[in-house]
Order: sequence, then structure tokens, then C-alpha cells
Amino acid sequence: MSNQIYLDILNHDYTEPVYLGMGDYGKVYKTYSIKYEIFFALKIIIFYDNQDYVSGYNEGIILNYLSSNQCVKYILCFYQMKIDEKKIYIATEYVDGYTIYTGYQLDLITDMPKLLINLWEGLKTIHKYGILHTDIHSGNIMVLPNHDVVFIDFGLACPIHDNVSKQLNIPTCVYTYSYDMYQLSNCVLKLFKSNQIVKTIYHIINNDQLPGTIDDVLTYLYKYEMNI
Ligand SMILES: Nc1ncnc2c1ncn2[C@@H]1O[C@H](COP(=O)(O)OP(=O)(O)OP(=O)(O)O)[C@@H](O)[C@H]1O
Ligand SMILES: [Mg+2]
Repeated sequence: MSNQIYLDILNHDYTEPVYLGMGDYGKVYKTYSIKYEIFFALKIIIFYDNQDYVSGYNEGIILNYLSSNQCVKYILCFYQMKIDEKKIYIATEYVDGYTIYTGYQLDLITDMPKLLINLWEGLKTIHKYGILHTDIHSGNIMVLPNHDVVFIDFGLACPIHDNVSKQLNIPTCVYTYSYDMYQLSNCVLKLFKSNQIVKTIYHIINNDQLPGTIDDVLTYLYKYEMNI
């Protein structure tokens, strides 16, 4: 899908927004562009200090970078960012799904292996673009009814490589890939409520070979870190 969409956000060129959710610093709305005949999500961040501003701005820049040529599976397609004196507006694709948190609460996750594979592939995709998410939790991953996943909320994301950092003019991360892997494992662990998940993940990423010991898993994670 192309992301060549020029919404006139500041002139309110869309239908009345419907509130979808909020976190610590932004509110997200669903709205409709009559011009392009699409629903889209509008995240509005009121910045009270420099930190709010930086995380909102970085989120827009990183999503724009991730969708710069075409929309990438596992990540929201970016449409536009606008900034006025008090607010940052980020328009992205609207996802008709639910967060992992809601999916768990309402028992909507029926195909756990598919979900796990998609989570794993999604995280690898973000990493291959040289970005760490650093805020992975059950409220920041959306699941579609077919169990495709979309990582949202890149407000704390950062470039891992110097070249991406220079290109985006955002400092590199203090973390490494394993930070995201740890957060994703934590999030998934809560779904299973059992350490069995560590073996399951290893099983998936190693094409059906079950690990003998936890050391095998750690060796794999170490190799992942070195080779990505
Ligand atoms: N593109 C989207 N399509 C549909 N729903 C969305 C979309 N983006 C966000 N949401 C909904 O809005 C909620 C808040 O979004 P998001 O996590 O980006 O906001 P936030 O204010 O940055 O939260 P946080 O406190 O985690 O930083 C999500 O949990 C999700 O339910
Ligand atoms: Mg969030």
C-alpha cells in the first residue's frame, strides 16, 4: 500500500474523531478522510515539556522512516505529522483489531502459534530497519482478527545504528536488541503464564528443534544479537 496521503490535519480535514485509547502522553482517535475515503488513526500529543515533545516528534520521524518507500507489514503505515505551538499530530493507518492485552482479557487469541510467529517476525522486521522499539508491552501491540500483528507506539523507539541515527538526527539507543526481545518475551509469557513459552519460541525460530537446556536458548539469543 502506498502512503502518499496529504491530509490537511491542522485545518481539520476529516470527520469528527472517535476516541480509541490513550497512554501516558498521547490520545488516539479514529477518523475518516472524505478526500481519500479512508479511515485513519490520529494520535494527538499535547507537549508540556521537552520530553513529551521529543518522544512525539521521534515517533513521527521513525514511523515516517519505516514507511518511507512503502508501508511495512507489522508497523503502522505513516501518513503525516504536523506540529503546532502545543500539540503534535501523527496520522497513521487505522488498524481494525485489538491490543494483545484486550485479546487476552476477552479470550480473542485462538491461534497462539500464529501469533507467536508474527510477533517474532514483526520484531525482526523492526530490528532489520535498525530501530529498537524499547516499549514493548501488551498495550503496544495490536492483533488483527486473522492474528497478524502490528507494533504501535514508537514514542520511545530509537535507532540502533549510527547511519540511521545520522539520517534521522535522533541519538542512538543505549539498549541492544536483547532489550526488545526481553520485553517481548515478558509480554508473551503473561499470555501463557508458563515458562514453556521460552521453549516454544526457541522451537519456532529454530525450525522444529526443541532446545535441550536454557543454555541453548541463551546461546541462540547471543547469536541473534551478534548477527542481525
Ligand atoms: N493505528 C491504530 N489503530 C487502531 N487503534 C489504535 C491505533 N493506534 C493506537 N490505537 C489504540 O490507542 C491506544 C493508545 O495508543 P498508543 O499506545 O500509541 O498511545 P500512547 O499514548 O503512546 O500510549 P503509551 O502510554 O503506551 O505511550 C492503543 O492501545 C490502541 O488501543
Ligand atoms: Mg502505548
